[in-house]
Amino acid sequence: MSVTIKTAQEIEKMRVAGHLAAEVLEMIEPYVKPGITTAELDQICHDYIVHQQQAIPAPLNYRGFPKSICSSVNQVVCHGIPNEKRLKKGDLINLDITVIKDGYHGDTSQMFLVGGGSVLAKRLMDITQQALWIGIQQAKPGAQLGDIGHAIQDFVEQHNYSVVREYCGHGIGKEFHEDPQVLHYGSPGTGLVLQPGMCFTIEPMVNSGKRHVKLRPDGWTVVTRDRSLSAQFEHTLLITPEGCEVLTLRQNETQFASGH
Ligand code: MF3
Ligand code: CO
Ligand code: CO
Repeated sequence: MSVTIKTAQEIEKMRVAGHLAAEVLEMIEPYVKPGITTAELDQICHDYIVHQQQAIPAPLNYRGFPKSICSSVNQVVCHGIPNEKRLKKGDLINLDITVIKDGYHGDTSQMFLVGGGSVLAKRLMDITQQALWIGIQQAKPGAQLGDIGHAIQDFVEQHNYSVVREYCGHGIGKEFHEDPQVLHYGSPGTGLVLQPGMCFTIEPMVNSGKRHVKLRPDGWTVVTRDRSLSAQFEHTLLITPEGCEVLTLRQNETQFASGH
């Protein structure tokens, strides 16, 4: 499949889907507290998406994924399956939300530090969020995907963290995962040249230890090989004539979004 350029009508639908995905993260935040299980968080998000938003949780049954959101705790890098284990103070958790509305996808994730946590976990979380926004700043017509990957990798490695290579951002639209693949590492001046109307995610996974990962026997849960902490933030973007629009922007992100 090649990279699609969205029409004006499709862009409007991508805006709606992106906004709904962002609203799920805003809705769930007060529930992410010590004592709740990730299965309970999944159920709350599921009910909100289906009944309040009249939308579809894209992960549910996607290639056999059994739940409506991904929840990745501590050394889990991505694609964690919500379960009955209770969150405890100091856990570092990513919730990844993808909704389908009117046939189009919005995909976004953020970290939460449960009950306030260690300085180390907070630093990993902050650097990862900044890495996402440094990638977003590169996203404009005429820039290349390698510019985004390079900027993220350079920033992360300067802070002595590592970028996971096995998973990447992706084009998004009618399909959950479309072309292109958006790597979070690379060389400037290489790769696809960005054009207005392209939609894709940037979703760097950053490990506090080495970059290597392994897949748990459940076939989904990706963990750091050295059991170090991992963090991830994700946004869905539209390339505009002027730069880019963050379709999944939340209200609490104004400090990052100046110029967006
Ligand atoms: N939301 C993830 C992404 O950012 C994909 C999750 S696939 C699932 O691409 F099946 F695990 F939900
Ligand atoms: Co994604
Ligand atoms: Co996602």
